[in-house]
Amino acid sequence: MYSKIIGAGFYVPDNMVKNEFFESFLDTNDEWISSRTGIKSRFFSKGENTSDLGTKAAEMALDESGLKADELDMIVFATMTPDMYMPSTACIVKKNIGAEKAFAFDIGAACSGFMYALTVASQFIENGSVRNALVIGGEVMSKALDFSDRSTAVLFGDGAGAVVLAASQEPGIIKSYLGAKDDSKLSLVLEALPVENPFVEKAEGSTNKLAMEGREVFKFSTQVVGQAIDEVLKDTGYGYEDVKMIIPHQANYRLIDYAIGKNKNLQDKFYLNVDRYGNTSAGSVAIALSEVRQKGLLKPGDLIILLGFGGGFTWGSLLIKI
Ligand code: UT7
Repeated sequence: MYSKIIGAGFYVPDNMVKNEFFESFLDTNDEWISSRTGIKSRFFSKGENTSDLGTKAAEMALDESGLKADELDMIVFATMTPDMYMPSTACIVKKNIGAEKAFAFDIGAACSGFMYALTVASQFIENGSVRNALVIGGEVMSKALDFSDRSTAVLFGDGAGAVVLAASQEPGIIKSYLGAKDDSKLSLVLEALPVENPFVEKAEGSTNKLAMEGREVFKFSTQVVGQAIDEVLKDTGYGYEDVKMIIPHQANYRLIDYAIGKNKNLQDKFYLNVDRYGNTSAGSVAIALSEVRQKGLLKPGDLIILLGFGGGFTWGSLLIKI
């Protein structure tokens, strides 16, 4: 049994924010942001939370799939900016869309989260435990940003994407490959609750805001892009030439461009939309996948690779037949 994508959707808040927005309160400018990252705009929430974005993306994906919410058996939500620790964002979406019988949980693997979530859901389908699954990747990154830090505030955006997976005799997800390694220098961090209790006088240094050592992350990310592509093709009988499109995590243009430089034969296959959305972390690959389907850039039978990398460090790739 295979798991096949039968619907996709995405949603971003309707507040588009151009690079110039940052010029009034940070020592930065459109020229620096565009040339270093390729980002020209992103969307920031005016109050919608992660579950709101995920719900709208899920409704679009369900619509495309032709399934009703009460036919879903499971919901997995990849995010590092949940509405709450409890209930999970997946449980909130379950309630919002009326997925009566679905079990639901969140997965945290930062910008690789959608790859991890798709892999987990597809395993449930492939082993026959469930028939239909909703997989969402989404973030409200703006609530985790330190808007006084020019080196991170300009990079990220808010948004969510979703797919509906269903059991199928036809190949869908052919292979997935996941990886993780110690980020020993803590170069990409978003802290959770500090340990504060009657036995601890005062927790130190917790900010609840994203902090990043950009160069370390750049180094790590450009190393794993090529490796994740090679690993997911290995032993499948498929090669580079068979792949129609590669949808990478939309971290930033310069990073992807550098990684492509090491894999020149794949140059024309990468789909990028980071210029319009910024880095939406777990949302980015899901949004891009839905966007390419909406634009009609893929047809049944096309082979694509989804590719994520980010905090943890984590990375992952999936080889998928559309
Ligand atoms: O999902 C994974 C997410 N992570 C990423 O995508 C990050 C990967 N890293 C990168 O893409 C790059 O490291 C950045 C785009 C984040 C930064 O580019 P860089 O060429 O590595 O810059 P840098 O960090 O070495 O900083 C160079 C200079 C510094 O100024 P000084 O110390 O040389 O005076 C920074 O303070 O650029 C400065 N800078 C900025 N200047 C204007 C950093 N951010 C900005 C900014 N505007 N927004």
